[in-house]
Amino acid sequence: MDAKYAGIMGEIKKQLANGSLLAGSKLPSVRQMSEWFACSKNTVIKAYSELEKEHIIYSVPKSGYYVVNQFQNPENKSHAIDFLSAGPDKSVMPYIEFQHCMNQAIDTYKEELFTYSDQQGLYSLRVQLVKYLQNLQVFTDPERLFVVSGSQQALNLLVSMPFPNGKNHILIEQPTYFGFIESATLHQVKTFGIDVTMEGIDLERLEYIFRNNDIKFFYIVPRFQNPLGHSYTNHEKKKIVELAEKYDVYIVEDDFLGDLDPNAKSDPLFSYNPSGRVIYVKSFSKIFLPGLRIALVVLPKLMINHFLRYKFSADFNSPVLSQGALEIYLKSGMLDGHMKRIKELYQKKMKLLQEACELLLPVGTQFSKPASGFYLSVFLPERVTAKQVVSVLREKEIYVDDASRMFLPEYKKDNLVRLCISQVNESQIQPGVEQLARCIASIDSRKNHLASNSLLRF
Ligand SMILES: Cc1ncc(COP(=O)(O)O)c(C=O)c1O
Repeated sequence: MDAKYAGIMGEIKKQLANGSLLAGSKLPSVRQMSEWFACSKNTVIKAYSELEKEHIIYSVPKSGYYVVNQFQNPENKSHAIDFLSAGPDKSVMPYIEFQHCMNQAIDTYKEELFTYSDQQGLYSLRVQLVKYLQNLQVFTDPERLFVVSGSQQALNLLVSMPFPNGKNHILIEQPTYFGFIESATLHQVKTFGIDVTMEGIDLERLEYIFRNNDIKFFYIVPRFQNPLGHSYTNHEKKKIVELAEKYDVYIVEDDFLGDLDPNAKSDPLFSYNPSGRVIYVKSFSKIFLPGLRIALVVLPKLMINHFLRYKFSADFNSPVLSQGALEIYLKSGMLDGHMKRIKELYQKKMKLLQEACELLLPVGTQFSKPASGFYLSVFLPERVTAKQVVSVLREKEIYVDDASRMFLPEYKKDNLVRLCISQVNESQIQPGVEQLARCIASIDSRKNHLASNSLLRF
């Protein structure tokens, strides 16, 4: 390693540790540093880019380098290990860049951003979103695209509104995203389930359900599913769309983590029938800033007027300030750099998590193996319940999720634990899994002991 750039890195880390450099503060310019350290600008740039890779600092084009807001001094790091929170990793969120976009949006649009607006979403943003979707193999036009207040709003409206096929019931994967189950329950919509495992779904069973029931739509999370982390193959996705077409069932495709897919050849279901059979829902909450409450939905032409009425009755329009700033952010091309960073980050964390599970989880425990995304699920041995594991680990400040609420009552499993990698620090992954493994083994052996004692009594 070039001693000079390592020296610059060391100096910055030292200042962070002793508190003379604070989270969020701006670093000296490359020119200043090269003068202070009597080295070339390239050496400083190299040091800064290595610190960026370690998520200690970040750069803002035409402004400079900053310490990440969430920087935590390793000396006073909390012991908590968070496999529970499902928001994006705060250390790579482009807060400062987005702040610039907000200011620019206000300069550009002025009062337009603070009054009622187009119910379908700012047209200029929809134009940018259409371009963004092309990278995901979703080809559409601004007229079919709605900006919504989070994808949860789109899902909730779709659950409640009538569909052109005149059907009434909904099919969901089992398990699935809890927020969707909540919407269906609150709207008292009859819901059918289909088991999904890491091997996918039984397509014959799917056809049977489509053929024999009054299914309005099939809600599916095709990539890095919540909670399993499962992704379908292109062949399966094509087949599902064909069956939907055959039996006049709509598909609501929730591609919330599609951008993280390392497989460039993986297609969304939408691409197999772009004419309207598949309704494409895309959240920005996992890959960008969830507080903006911005997501999009691409609808069949036939449903646009109806959706407009439902959207209007829910909230008139989605936050315009968020929309204007997102438009500027997309236009500036900044999303590409951000996406590249987070793709690498989550893939790496998921790899670390899988390696730790492989190495440490006791016999009888299984786990899913997603290539990226946020979630990996652990199937506990027969005698161990997720509820017990959650409560034992909570005592040690290790937070994991009991997935039992992600099932319909008739499918309920109480032995599934969901681990989310988005907010856990890389260095805490292995220690966290070590504790999980110990906890499973100890509950299992205690129960085994109790079971053999009660057998002895007979
Ligand atoms: C699969 C899935 N879809 C949709 C959502 C809702 O996200 P938002 O409303 O923030 O876009 C979530 C949130 O966790 C999710 O996990």
